[in-house]
Amino acid sequence: MKINTTMPIAGAAIIFHIVTVFVSCSQGVRQTDYEPLSLIPAPASVEVAEGEFLLKSGTVLFIDPAFGSAGEVAGMFNGFLENHYGKISVTEQQTPGNDNIIRAKYDSLIDNAEAYTLEISPDGIAIAAGDDAGLFYAFQTLMQLIFPSQNAEKRAIAVPCVRISDSPQYRWRGMHLDVSRHFFPKEFIFKMLDAMAMHKLNTFHWHLTDDQGWRIEIEKYPELATVAAWRDETLIGHGSETPWVYDGTRYGGYYTKQDVRDVVEYARKLHINVLPEIEMPGHAVAALQAYPQLSCSGGKVPPFNRWGVSEDVFCAGKDETYAFLEGVLSEVADLFPYEYIHIGGDECPKVRWEQCPDCQKRIADNNLKDEHELQSYLVKRMEAFLATKGKKIIGWDEILEGGIADNAAVMSWRGHSGGIQAANMGHDVVMTPHSFVYLDYYQSKYNEPLSIGGMLPLEKVYSIDIMPPEIAEDKRHHIIGAQTNLWTEYIGDEKHVEYMAFPRLAALAEALWTPRARLDYDDFARRMSAHYARYDAMDLNYRVPYPSGYEAINLVTEGSVTVELSNGIPASSIYYTTDGSEPDGKAELYTGPLTLEPEADLILKSVTVMPGGRSSAVMTGLFRKAELKEASPVESLNQGLRFTLHRGEFNSVADISGDADTAGTVTTVRIPGGVPAENFGLLMEGYIMVPADGIYSFFTGSDDGVRIYIDGELVVDGDELHHGITNEGRVALKTGMHRITVRYFQRLYRQSLSLSWEGPGVARQM
Ligand code: ACM
Ligand code: ZN
Repeated sequence: MKINTTMPIAGAAIIFHIVTVFVSCSQGVRQTDYEPLSLIPAPASVEVAEGEFLLKSGTVLFIDPAFGSAGEVAGMFNGFLENHYGKISVTEQQTPGNDNIIRAKYDSLIDNAEAYTLEISPDGIAIAAGDDAGLFYAFQTLMQLIFPSQNAEKRAIAVPCVRISDSPQYRWRGMHLDVSRHFFPKEFIFKMLDAMAMHKLNTFHWHLTDDQGWRIEIEKYPELATVAAWRDETLIGHGSETPWVYDGTRYGGYYTKQDVRDVVEYARKLHINVLPEIEMPGHAVAALQAYPQLSCSGGKVPPFNRWGVSEDVFCAGKDETYAFLEGVLSEVADLFPYEYIHIGGDECPKVRWEQCPDCQKRIADNNLKDEHELQSYLVKRMEAFLATKGKKIIGWDEILEGGIADNAAVMSWRGHSGGIQAANMGHDVVMTPHSFVYLDYYQSKYNEPLSIGGMLPLEKVYSIDIMPPEIAEDKRHHIIGAQTNLWTEYIGDEKHVEYMAFPRLAALAEALWTPRARLDYDDFARRMSAHYARYDAMDLNYRVPYPSGYEAINLVTEGSVTVELSNGIPASSIYYTTDGSEPDGKAELYTGPLTLEPEADLILKSVTVMPGGRSSAVMTGLFRKAELKEASPVESLNQGLRFTLHRGEFNSVADISGDADTAGTVTTVRIPGGVPAENFGLLMEGYIMVPADGIYSFFTGSDDGVRIYIDGELVVDGDELHHGITNEGRVALKTGMHRITVRYFQRLYRQSLSLSWEGPGVARQM
């Protein structure tokens, strides 16, 4: 039984809500500026019919009282109309007429959870659902069909005639927000929940604790609010840039228990489950500031006011840690009605445990093999404890290491593989592979605010495979859904959170809701044209894409070059200049491919302007005449590149020096086997065969720094400490052999190196 109320009782009072729209002009309006319907996420099935329903003063709203939320939904719909279309009054009536009515009926034959039908005809709107969530989503769809109708100056709103039959593909459709690294007040959480509901998302993962701040009041441990919720300072700039510089400003905040109840209640009305995350045993430095006795040393650990992974974690040996975690989880379990609690489990270094007599004793006493099994022991104890509170646990995919707790669900973040493994073992899985859903990653190559790293354009989010083929047929039901994760190390204010979330959240919402066979990115992009106007009306900041079609530096070997601009938003306009001035809505309107003839250096600047008036960042590109580089006179060569490896703490490829520790050959540009984990430089040299005269682009992926030289000229410059990021560059080459030199250094943490190239006769390849 999915309906969250009692069944209709014969003779029960029927409540009618009369929706009256007070407005001033006379004609109806259509969504003529946009693609018809423009629903996000796309419904499972839509048939468009002739005509329209006029929603106007006197339209009756009847919601079957079998839906426990009938009054709430009527209130939401009225609030929506009032916000966007004028004043509304609601009156109760005993008998509805047959036309000019929005009628929502409970239908027990609709037995998919969250499913609904919505039929709009000139006479009325008929909704049917088998549970309250389905009713809610029918109204979400109806609100998108109405909105954005142009404005509130009209007497009636024309809603297109359609027949929609809809239900979601996945039951866990989530968004995560890290409120530890930066804190966001509950009013902002409400706003994000509203946005989630519009996208038919139903799970809000609230990352409440981490090294840099504990954000939830726990009565048993008051110093979590007075101490752990605050830090003395915050890192300035990117964490990979050393030396670290701090702002010297105290920062913090937390949610009171009442705040949490308010968020849970707000979410409940939006059919959103709130999943609290209490991180353990790692990412715990904030808690250790308040309760240092829970560390392995039992004493004060240094604050961790930069980003990354601290080696100070909860001691898994001391009884006091277990008492603390159970005390916290007990209050958390009381506050949150959702069946799951997230216990973190990710990125827990084991170095303190290796040195800690208490941890080692617990390993010995419990016949554990190693520190991974110790982590597993801790998680299993928490699972057993929470089971007594009627709760299930979910954790990051590291909880698979050392043996997963029996009933734990897994969030697969380090790729799909943890999720595949867990599902095939019979555990429920939420897919959150970072390279598809981490909304803290860059959205494009240019003009983006400082981010942690990575590259996640809208299209890539849309392309996520939530159900990889490696999942056994009889285990597919264990993939219960997916979610975006939004870590806020580099995101300090609300507008920035919105910028990172939108529109990428919409792409995952559709991948989760819409049947896979109906997913079509180009169609999604067209529908987004209207959806952006919804964001405008909700005062949600979002990324407006700048025009693509050229790079920051472009080489021209012929007399002219043709540049085609696009931004994927049909309803928008592109403006450009070629005189170096900043383009705005008064610059040249782009109507077709541009032919540029750069005698001297030429600068093309272009901008997207949305129908609602918002602009993108300006894309600036230099067009420069280039001579083709002569090929080298080498003829026969052995396959591969020669490399030498140099140990040392290099912070730039320019510093790589000293005798080689090892040398050898590799067949592609990559890190050879057998290298140290950290602190080395790698030099490579070889030749590439260029098949035709022309401009070639080179792309590196590296963690940390890299430079690529062709015939001694610097072409790709990524010579910095950083997470895995890409860099690129271009060079004009004549047919034949050209010398390539790679200089790479690895300092700390992860290491990676790759190179691909493309140009005339070379499809992008490694
Ligand atoms: C994670 O991104 N550390 C779960
Ligand atoms: Zn310990």
